[in-house]
Parts: sequence; structure tokens; C-alpha cells
Amino acid sequence: MICLGIESTAHTFGIGIVTNKGKVLANAIDAFKTEKGGLIPNELRNHHEDVKDNVLKTALEKAEIKLKDIDLVAFSQGPGMGPALRVGLSTAKDISSETKAPVVGVNHCVAHLEVGRLLTEATDPVLLYASGANTQIIAYESGKYRIFGETLDQGIGNFIDAFARYLGLGFPGGPKIEGIALKGKDYIQLPYVVKGMDVSFSGILTDLKRKYDSKIHDTGNLAFSLQETVFAMLTEVSERAMAHTGKKELLLGGGVACNKRLQEMCSIMCRERKAKLFVPENQFLVDNAVMIAWLGILMKKHATKDHKRIDIKPYERTDDIKVTWK
Ligand code: ATP
Ligand code: FE2
Repeated sequence: MICLGIESTAHTFGIGIVTNKGKVLANAIDAFKTEKGGLIPNELRNHHEDVKDNVLKTALEKAEIKLKDIDLVAFSQGPGMGPALRVGLSTAKDISSETKAPVVGVNHCVAHLEVGRLLTEATDPVLLYASGANTQIIAYESGKYRIFGETLDQGIGNFIDAFARYLGLGFPGGPKIEGIALKGKDYIQLPYVVKGMDVSFSGILTDLKRKYDSKIHDTGNLAFSLQETVFAMLTEVSERAMAHTGKKELLLGGGVACNKRLQEMCSIMCRERKAKLFVPENQFLVDNAVMIAWLGILMKKHATKDHKRIDIKPYERTDDIKVTWK
């Protein structure tokens, strides 16, 4: 069985092609970028509409298959931005009507976890999912992927991007802040906001902007301190979720997990508690459609009635999904 996955929850439009044995045949994406400023839902929809045919063509060429070879179409039904999600849904319906392949809607956050289990040796990990819109600590317990901790306001990537935007840098800001942070070495005190198992970034953002406006701080030191603070917060709650669940594996997912300093902190924490850290390649950390195709296959193999309704679900939560395939 060959599954074609479609990702369109936010800035990335992707088509991934995977076999039922988990062989990745293609991972094509086109991610919306800006020189200055952030993401506007209608601009994302236009971007996705503009690039979708090309991304599909690239994926089919890479996989060396024709559209008629597709047996299953999976798309990201949520969570995400409505106008962007709708492009994925309509692409899925178009491909399905051409190929007669059935369509399955999958949850984007669960897909991040499942692609990590496919591509690394992690079997039952705690997932630190650190992306633009999402920041969650997720682990399997009693039939669902439960959220053990999460952000109380914005996602960590959106927080970093917002500060980058304030400095006049475009989107995505994460890699730029990572570069600037390498030039910093003096830690500037910032609020450290962990509440129980949850984290919050908006107060830190306000404080960073104020410190930047005061012009007394070096920008490198501010970027360095930003990373040291918020990555320590994520490492702390990940460690607590591991202690609570007794799990011995930590898996990273989401675009912010590409950050080398975050990876290093997680690696030190895992080493100290004799646990294993798993970090998929960057192309599978950021939004991609391979993860959507793979979760489509898992769900199809273990289909339940829940998965029959085909629509977008912009507010769907990780723990709304009954995990029938584990
Ligand atoms: P989701 O829909 O799951 O919330 P997303 O649409 O934000 O995800 P991702 O590709 O998972 O997409 O993540 C993008 C985010 O990752 C952006 O906020 C970007 O700035 C951030 N990012 C990418 N690389 C790095 C890096 N090296 N350091 C920090 N942040 C990074
Ligand atoms: Fe994502």
C-alpha cells in the first residue's frame, strides 16, 4: 500500500509518500517565508494554492510513481489555521476523486510523534513537541497520547519569531536567533515561567522587548539568554514528565527542536537520568507530510468509526484522538 500525505496546517505545504512498511519514498515541501513580518492566514492559503501542484509533481517524481499508484490519501485535519487547512482538504479530495483512493484525516501533533517512532528507535517516548504554534509534552497512557504539560499562551516558536520580528528579522526567526545567540555569552536575568507542568512565554517576551528598547543590552546576550531560559524551562518539564510516567526515552519534534542548544540541554538531562534521547533529522522535525502519510497508514490499518468524517478540525487536540494502532 502506498499512502500520499498532505500537510498544510500553517506555513508549510507538503506532500509525503510512504509505503505501508514505513519506507519513505518522497518528502516534498514548500514553506512560506517572509523577509519582514509574520504569517497571515489568507497569505498562507494563497501560498499553498500557488505551490500545491508543483509540490505534488516533485513528490511523484521523487517517488518515481504515478498518481494512479496511490492507495490512500491522508491529510492534516488539525490543529491549524482554517484557510491553510482547507487547501489540504481540497487537495486530498481532488486526488481521491482522481485515484479513487480513500481519504483519512489525521492529527498533526500525533503525526510528529509517530514519525519519530518510525524513524528512530524510540518505542514509548515522552515527546517534547516544540514548534511554532505548539509546545506540548506528550506521552502515551491508557489509549491516548496525553498532554502532560503545555504552553499556557503562545507556542515557543511563535514566541521566538515574535522577538525576531521585533529585531526587524523576517520569518522564521528561530534559526536567526540561534545564530545571534552564538555571539552572546553573558546571561541576562529573564523571568523563568514554569507553572506546575506548564510553561508560559508572553511575560518573557514583554521583558525581552523592554530590555531591547533600553539599548543597554547587547543583542547577542539577549538572544543567548532567551535560549538559555526557555530551553531550560522545556527541559525541566520534559524531565518531570519522564519522572512521572517512568519512561526512559525522550523524543524531539517540531521546528524549534532543530535548535542545537535545545538538543544539547535535552541530551545532558537524558544522560543524567540514564534515559535515551532521539532526534529525527531536521526534515522530519519541521512540518512535513511524511508524518501525515505514515499516521494515515497506521490509522487505516486500525480503522475505527471515529476516522470516517472528512473535514478540517482547526482546534483538535492531541488527546482527542483514540490511539487504536498501538
Ligand atoms: P506547528 O503547526 O506544529 O505548530 P509550525 O507550523 O510552526 O508547526 P514547524 O516547522 O514545526 O512549523 O516549526 C517552525 C518553527 O520552528 C518556527 O517558529 C521557527 O522559527 C522554528 N525554528 C526552526 N528552526 C529553528 C532553530 N534552529 N531554532 C529555534 N527555532 C527554530
Ligand atoms: Fe508541526
